[in-house]
Amino acid sequence: MNVTFLLNGETTRVDTHPTQTLLDWLREDRQLTGTKEGCNEGDCGACSVMVTDAKGARTLNACILFMPQLHGKAVRTVEGLAAPDGTLHPVQQAMVDHHGSQCGFCTPGFVVSMATGHLENRTDHDDVLAGNLCRCTGYAPIIRAARAAEDAPVPDHMRDTPLHLTQKTQIPAPQTSDDLADWCLAHPEGTLIAGATDVGLWVTKDFRDLGEVAFLNQCADLQQIDDLGEHLRIGAAVTMTDVLAALRPLHPSYAEMVRRYGSEQVRNAATIGGNIANGSPIGDNPPALIALGATLHLRHGDTRRDMPIEDFFIDYGQQDRQSGEFVEGVTIPKSAPALRCYKLSKRFDQDISAVCGCFNVTVETGTVTDARIAFGGMAGTPKRADKAQAALIGRAWASETIEAAAQALKEDFTPLSDMRASADYRMQAAQGQLRRYFEDLNGAQTDVLEVRT
Ligand SMILES: Cc1cc2nc3c(=O)[nH]c(=O)nc-3n(C[C@H](O)[C@H](O)[C@H](O)COP(=O)(O)OP(=O)(O)OC[C@H]3O[C@@H](n4cnc5c(N)ncnc54)[C@H](O)[C@@H]3O)c2cc1C
Ligand code: FES
Ligand code: FES
Repeated sequence: MNVTFLLNGETTRVDTHPTQTLLDWLREDRQLTGTKEGCNEGDCGACSVMVTDAKGARTLNACILFMPQLHGKAVRTVEGLAAPDGTLHPVQQAMVDHHGSQCGFCTPGFVVSMATGHLENRTDHDDVLAGNLCRCTGYAPIIRAARAAEDAPVPDHMRDTPLHLTQKTQIPAPQTSDDLADWCLAHPEGTLIAGATDVGLWVTKDFRDLGEVAFLNQCADLQQIDDLGEHLRIGAAVTMTDVLAALRPLHPSYAEMVRRYGSEQVRNAATIGGNIANGSPIGDNPPALIALGATLHLRHGDTRRDMPIEDFFIDYGQQDRQSGEFVEGVTIPKSAPALRCYKLSKRFDQDISAVCGCFNVTVETGTVTDARIAFGGMAGTPKRADKAQAALIGRAWASETIEAAAQALKEDFTPLSDMRASADYRMQAAQGQLRRYFEDLNGAQTDVLEVRT
């Protein structure tokens, strides 16, 4: 199987297999060892590369990026940042000038992320660099370097354009959802690979043989967001970066939670469909989508079915999806002014939720008329808080009602203790989130202070 892409400006054709990672190919086959292997699971950013497609340049983690995902795109590694005459890229020079580096492990990833941010005129350096971990220099000189390079012109060689390939690869990459439906019917036990932020780890950590796979990253209609008037329909293969951009003006609290979803590199790869389909009890989108009253769209061949998204999650590891069926998209209301999403995790950035509480309560003339409350991290699935909702509906919107609902949460959930949190912590945190929601809706300013500098 072969894949063609631009590598540091040169057209490159590679014989590969579907689950060879870009990192392995760069380091082992191409001897480009500037891109480092740290965690090999998307957490540290040592393997960051810049990938350009029709939508622009973004940073991705090469350790969980499979070679077929690159077909037709342009890849720039740390070796391709300096100009051909050896002049350092402005962010590299700034790192030298501001003493931003002590070791060679994190620095290549940092400068690739900084160069991508520089190309895209980004000044939100904390967000750009949240997926790059440094254990020795500390972030202050690195951020100073990023700021210092802001106004330097973008070197010409950094403006990559994707290739216009007429030749397809032999690797299954359906171009439309119709093609995908056919592939799924023919390979009901096959594995779909969307952003590979889960599937990548099955390969790099579990050494799983995935059998037949199909890649969703060329499926154009699954990457669309359609404005339906009062609703948005988000295709399953829309990345979390694009979801974040669409949510910002509509649902700022949900958007703020998504800003803390993984890191820039993870959001650039992960898709909303993958985050739903994997059925994880700690995925961040499902509780927010349940609180919003989203509708999930599934497709099997030519047969489509829709369901309230909460019905999809049956039990731990079990979803209402038949073999050969796939997630086509999700529809959300555009307006939900009472929606608030609270993510609790050990780190502010780049961490999976211990508890994620999403609340959407309607209050009319002082009385609760509707309540949609859902949690991640409190059960084997993302789950609505039925008893707590019942304790609210029809009652006065008052702290006594909230206390009754907080107690009812104990009937709704029997959380587990694990490495992220104890059961007791989870319950107290969920109750605290409900109380915070009450304060927030009443106008108190309880937003978490920006902890990064
Ligand atoms: C470093 C790191 C940080 C992370 N942080 C977070 C976080 O903060 N919050 C969070 O919620 N998650 C987080 N995740 C988990 C991960 O990003 C998500 O679960 C992600 O959304 C999966 O989407 P994907 O497109 O990468 O899916 P993939 O890995 O490609 O696929 C995941 C599963 O879904 C299936 N699938 C994908 N698309 C479809 C479809 N359209 N129809 C049917 N099945 C499909 C695949 O076959 C596979 O079983 C993190 C992961 C990493 C590696
Ligand atoms: S090696 Fe750590 S993110 Fe890739
Ligand atoms: S300078 Fe980054 S880990 Fe040491």
